[in-house]
Amino acid sequence: MSLIDSLKDRDRVFDFMAPQASPVDVRHGPILYMEDVTVSFDGFKAINKLNLTIDDGELRCIIGPNGAGKTTMMDIITGKTRPTEGSVWFGSRHNLLTMNEPDIASLGIGRKFQKPTVFEALSVFHNLELAMAADKRILPTLTARMTGEIRDRIEEVLETIGLTVLHHQPAGILSHGQKQWLEIGMLLMQRPRLLLVDEPVAGMTEQEMERTAELLTGLAGQQSVVVVEHDMGFVRSIARQVTVLHQGSVLAEGSMDQVSSDPKVVEVYLGADDEEAA
Ligand SMILES: Nc1ncnc2c1ncn2[C@@H]1O[C@H](COP(=O)(O)OP(=O)(O)O)[C@@H](O)[C@H]1O
Ligand SMILES: [Mg+2]
Repeated sequence: MSLIDSLKDRDRVFDFMAPQASPVDVRHGPILYMEDVTVSFDGFKAINKLNLTIDDGELRCIIGPNGAGKTTMMDIITGKTRPTEGSVWFGSRHNLLTMNEPDIASLGIGRKFQKPTVFEALSVFHNLELAMAADKRILPTLTARMTGEIRDRIEEVLETIGLTVLHHQPAGILSHGQKQWLEIGMLLMQRPRLLLVDEPVAGMTEQEMERTAELLTGLAGQQSVVVVEHDMGFVRSIARQVTVLHQGSVLAEGSMDQVSSDPKVVEVYLGADDEEAA
């Protein structure tokens, strides 16, 4: 590796160490701003003039029947799917529609898919370490001070996700719920500004769901968290502001009590089977 390359790598490590440097400008508005966003798949509008704003540090729950466009909405924010129309901004400075997936991720948008994808043979600690230095070329160039800072960050995240006592265990022995927390921890290693979480409690025990509610509500404030979830009991336990999607648009928005007593929402959910409705 040339000297220039290793200096570049070192600078990238310093980027990690100085997350405040991420120039997301939220002084005059929301952290995420979507206006009149439409996505057509062969003429079918999966997202139809969607308007959504998320404030810095807020916890937002998104509910809506199957096919409402919830996953497509996350695909748009992360750059996986391009809308046919509309605008999507991260803070007032970053037009996400001009950026690719890796660049959007490195701005500080982390996405947790439904299925956990941890490295089962590696320890919990090592999974978190790898999540920080996703580019393995960085590790050999770390100085002792930086290694110490990474260790501190790992310990902090282990505490947050409640896996401190299991840190040396292989991730493969963790319960389903603990794997989900580990994966959230892996996202947290990169200090995201916005965390998108798709159905975090599917398959969890009652106790794991309670712990996940604490985890997500605790994360809000430090970062913005958008949770798509089918389990209405869970949503009720964490909800502040709730957005109901239907046919690719916002049907209702407000507190859980406001949206669940909204006649438009009741009508959509009455038509749906309980399992499907979320
Ligand atoms: N790549 C695709 N091609 C065609 N149709 C799609 C594609 N992705 C999603 N859809 C359709 O868009 C609608 C919204 O899907 P989705 O965002 O997955 O809904 P949700 O996550 O709310 O259940 C559905 O009708 C789905 O079939
Ligand atoms: Mg979905």
